[in-house]
Amino acid sequence: MRPKITVIGGGFVGSTTAHFLAMHELGDIVLLDINDGIPQGKALDLSQAAPVEGFDVQIRGTNSYEDTANSDIVVITAGMPRKPGMSRDELLAVNAGIVKTASENIKKYSPNAIVIVVTNPLDAMVHVAWKTTGFDSRRVIGMAGVLDSARMRHFIAEAVGVSVEDVTAFVMGGHGDTMIPLMRFAQVGGVPLADLLPKEKIDAIVERTRNGGAEIVSLLKTGSAYYAPAASVVAMVESILRDKKRVLPCAAYLNGEYGVKGLFIGVPVVLGGKGVERILEVKLNEEEKAAFEKTVQHVQELVTGSKF
Ligand code: LAC
Repeated sequence: MRPKITVIGGGFVGSTTAHFLAMHELGDIVLLDINDGIPQGKALDLSQAAPVEGFDVQIRGTNSYEDTANSDIVVITAGMPRKPGMSRDELLAVNAGIVKTASENIKKYSPNAIVIVVTNPLDAMVHVAWKTTGFDSRRVIGMAGVLDSARMRHFIAEAVGVSVEDVTAFVMGGHGDTMIPLMRFAQVGGVPLADLLPKEKIDAIVERTRNGGAEIVSLLKTGSAYYAPAASVVAMVESILRDKKRVLPCAAYLNGEYGVKGLFIGVPVVLGGKGVERILEVKLNEEEKAAFEKTVQHVQELVTGSKF
């Protein structure tokens, strides 16, 4: 039997996630949205791409949570996207309500699922999903670090003029202005980035990474990014379903790691069949520690503001 993956939210992020999941043949897909016709139409269209692309998965669109029953993974993308000039944090109240409803239904229909949250403000929304489902924290994970790191890797590859495949770099912390692009660890084919690019160029990449989501919002004007967010979700789903144990930066529940207790923060984790199987603790220098404290404080404020 194929795994069952539900994607909640049939907007650009949700439907692109369904598309990439299908292309990777990761499982049967249920696309759920409150708007009648949208998920059904997109699922049908995507199913009709299958004979051409040659993927054998079922894709079903629905407005009913009953159809999501016994999913192995549920991805929450539903929520209001940002408009130009808006911060992710301005979406807090409205999206907390949307994520709460989705989470109640996940708890009811898919009590054993692993939940991946994409809705912004990400770090607070993962918290809402965790509180509402009551699931073990290893099974509730936020997607942000893979995306922020992918943006940074793209900028590095472009600046150095090499394949993206050979660029390793990661971002820690919250998904917002306080994120921490850890350039000290960035490498190109094993060579430290600092040996290949001058400091000003590296600093510019840090800045562009932090602003990566907003740059796209300001170009699109009517919504936020979706290709890279969807690809990032799919990398996480694949690592879980195939028990690959990839090391990916995700918003994970900290229970004393990094000196933090009771918050979801972006850190490198081992992602496998059980969800977050391990949290890797990076030895941060003083400057990075200060940045980490700042991001923790910001996430704490958001969580408090969400009233969860
Ligand atoms: C972004 C949104 C998804 O970073 O937060 O593009």
